[in-house]
Amino acid sequence: NGGGSALSGKDPNSGIQTLTSQAPMPPQFKATLPIPQQLKPTRQTGDTDYYEIVQSAATAEILPGLKTPIWGYNGTFPGPTIVQNPNRNVVVTHHNNLPVPTVVHLHGGAVPHDSDGYPTDFVLPAASYGDFSTMPAMGDMPAMSDPDAVTSRQTRDYSYPEQPRAATLWYHDHRMDFTGASVYRGLAGFHIAHDAEEQALPLPQGARDVPLMIADRAFAADGSFLYPALDPTMRSTPGVDKDSGNGVMGDVILVNGAPWPVFQVDTARYRFRILNASNARTYQLALDDSSGFVQIGTDQGLLAAPQTLDSIAISPAQRFDVVIDFSKHKVGDQITLTNQLGDGSTAVVMRFQVARTATDTSSVPATLSKVEAITPGSSAQARTMKFHRAGTDWEINGRIFDPSYSEADVRGGSTEVWTVTSDFHHPFHVHNCAMQVVSRDGQAPGPYDQGFKDTVFLNKGEKVQIAIRFSDYKGRYVFHCHNLEHEDMGMMANFTIN
Ligand code: C2O
Ligand code: CU
Repeated sequence: NGGGSALSGKDPNSGIQTLTSQAPMPPQFKATLPIPQQLKPTRQTGDTDYYEIVQSAATAEILPGLKTPIWGYNGTFPGPTIVQNPNRNVVVTHHNNLPVPTVVHLHGGAVPHDSDGYPTDFVLPAASYGDFSTMPAMGDMPAMSDPDAVTSRQTRDYSYPEQPRAATLWYHDHRMDFTGASVYRGLAGFHIAHDAEEQALPLPQGARDVPLMIADRAFAADGSFLYPALDPTMRSTPGVDKDSGNGVMGDVILVNGAPWPVFQVDTARYRFRILNASNARTYQLALDDSSGFVQIGTDQGLLAAPQTLDSIAISPAQRFDVVIDFSKHKVGDQITLTNQLGDGSTAVVMRFQVARTATDTSSVPATLSKVEAITPGSSAQARTMKFHRAGTDWEINGRIFDPSYSEADVRGGSTEVWTVTSDFHHPFHVHNCAMQVVSRDGQAPGPYDQGFKDTVFLNKGEKVQIAIRFSDYKGRYVFHCHNLEHEDMGMMANFTIN
């Protein structure tokens, strides 16, 4: 494959340095694509499905013959998939058996603030206090000497009322200053919301509706994940590469936790729910048979109409739902999903292997959904958010994250226009809202901006206008950069819905 297995050096798409694994590179297209297990409810009432997840340490064989210690939801990476059916509320009880505090955030969900996973709203560990000593002092953390308080906080119910639209959501750790390290260790999973509108469409479903979580990792010689210390107390330590703060990128691409896997497909249409769960890596995804993708959905659900794309720029935390039609292929054909690097070279992500002929009654209708324009009235509140670097910190409007400061007080259900500027490229994410790109440097939104977003990619130096429609849930939420190292180094702020 032209030796394209290893990414090395600076990533041409972002200018961020890729870490070099010390373990041997795993072979390409040998591992079978894992499909995360769908979690079964432990209990159901008239309108609510109850789930239980134990956050625990485990090992996974990601590289052949080596054991990688992971932190996983139910001990797996990715975590189990939660499916939220139409008109159903979901309650997930999380038990923390990890040695550190955790926080669970449903990314893209419309969620009451006490279930949203505010970065200091910890589920405390049961017994071992791990690296508590490096945590900043915070008001809502019980005293270390109070084991009862700790025990009473080790389990937490997260309530997710019926979601406004069918969408590919995901859940992940969100602990203040440590989100990057925790997600890198494996704390991420899919949460798929359905609705009646989508279920009435003839789109591929069942075994042909496949989530793909793409995440890069680097490995130490013993198979453990390689993650440079980004502990805030080490920010100014001599010898710590200041540029590792640009973001952590690995040289092995995992899809659903397996390196460069292969997926056997029928001669049929498939829906792939592509999530970029990487800490910092952006991808320009393409297919090597140059058939392109039919995009049907984005972060916040279906597009109004399908659009054909030759390639897809996907930043951390974004989702693209695409349909790929393998019916024009014959058994034995291989189609490779690639990452087109900005310097003209190509790296691989995974491979589809056409294994069986099959009949297919699915189709992609010309109309998918109603996507009304989010049109802010002329009196809509306008705000400016400057995303910028300050030394080793990443700041918004001149501040690092301060849990006690609200950058914006907004009205529930209102629409605002935020103008966001950046001195680097940043995935801009706002909790508890739907967004639409209004303009980029005064130009119309691009092909990757279509539909309702919750994460908008800011190119370096760009000025992006975004219409944001906040949900009705009141309380304190955050918005932040979804390059997780930037987030951990301060690029996050509160907003309050009144
Ligand atoms: Cu996916 Cu505030 O995060
Ligand atoms: Cu950033």
